[in-house]
Amino acid sequence: MDLDKNKIYEICSDNLPDFLRVIDGMTYESEGIFNSEMLLLVSLIKHFNVKLIIESGRANGQSTKVLAEYFKNPEYKIISIEFVKYSPEVKYSYKKLKNYKNLKLLFGDSFNLIPNLITEECCILIDGPKRLNALKLALNSFKNPLVKAILIHDMYKDSPFREIAEKLFPNHFFTDDKEFVKKFRRIDKKNWIDLRKYRDFRSWGPYRRGKKKFKSYSSTLMAAFNYLDSIDINQFISHSHSKKLMKTKWRVKYLLGGWRKRIKKLITFPISYIFYEKTINHGKSLDLKRLFKLWFKLAYEEFKVMFKK
Ligand SMILES: C[S@@+](CC[C@H](N)C(=O)[O-])C[C@H]1O[C@@H](n2cnc3c(N)ncnc32)[C@H](O)[C@@H]1O
Repeated sequence: MDLDKNKIYEICSDNLPDFLRVIDGMTYESEGIFNSEMLLLVSLIKHFNVKLIIESGRANGQSTKVLAEYFKNPEYKIISIEFVKYSPEVKYSYKKLKNYKNLKLLFGDSFNLIPNLITEECCILIDGPKRLNALKLALNSFKNPLVKAILIHDMYKDSPFREIAEKLFPNHFFTDDKEFVKKFRRIDKKNWIDLRKYRDFRSWGPYRRGKKKFKSYSSTLMAAFNYLDSIDINQFISHSHSKKLMKTKWRVKYLLGGWRKRIKKLITFPISYIFYEKTINHGKSLDLKRLFKLWFKLAYEEFKVMFKK
C-alpha cells in the first residue's frame, strides 16, 4: 500500500482534535457513516492535499454534512451525487445542506456524472451504489489518475464483496483494522447509541448484528489508493468463486429484508415528487399525469423485485 498503516494511524491521530470539534453535537442518521470511518476520509483528503471531494450516495446526508462542516473553507469544493430524486431523504438532506456555499448537490447516476466531474486531483467517497456496482464505479473512476483515493462503504468482512475488493485494489486499508479500531472506536460511542434508535438496527453493536457475530467491528470503510492498471471486472468475477454470492441466501435476504422500506418509498413518493419539482426543480406547475405514471412504474418495479425468486 502507498501509505503504510502506521502513517494512517498517525494522520488520523493528528486530525482527531479538529474532527471532534466539528462533529460535536451532530446526530447520526440512518444509513450514515460512523465517526471513525469519516475520520479516515477527512484525514486522507488532507494528506493528499486535494481540494475536490466527490461523494456518490447522499440519502439523508450524514456523511455529506460531516464533509461540509469539516471542509467549510471555500478553497474546497464538495460535490455530492444522489440517484433518487423523489424520496423523503431528499427533502431532509436538502433542508440541512442547502446553505453550504462550497457544496454542490447533484442528482443523477454517478456512473454518468463522475467522469466529467474529475477536473483536478480529488478523493471520492462511494456510499451508493453498493456491492459490485460500487467496485465497478471505483474501477471506472481510477482510470483517471487525478483520483488519489477512493473510499467505499460497507466493505465488512462478512460481505462476499470484501474478498473481491481486496484483490481488485491491492493498495488498501479497512477501518476494521484491529489497531485502528482500538485507537478510534471511542469516537463512535454516540453513533452506536443513535443507530440503535432505528427499528432495523436495535440489536446491532460492535462485532455483532443481532444474535449473529460479525467479523468486522462495523459496516467498514475501505480506502483504495490510486490504482492505474485497468481490469475487466466481469472477467475477474467469472474467474473468482464469487458467482455464488449472487445466489441463494445472500440474495433472498437482500430482497426480503427491504420490504418495509419499499412500502414506505411507495407511500411517500407523491409528497417527495412535489417537493423536488417545486422546491429543487423550481417547476411552476405540477404534472400530475407524470406523477401518476412514475408512481405506477415504481410500484411495478418494487413488487417485481420483491417477488423475484
Ligand atoms: C447508504 S445511502 C448514502 C448515505 C449517506 N452517505 C449518509 O451518510 O447519510 C446510499 C445512497 O446512494 C444512492 N445511490 C445508489 N446508486 C447510486 C448511483 N449510481 N449514483 C448516485 N447515487 C446512488 C441511493 O439512492 C442511496 O440514497
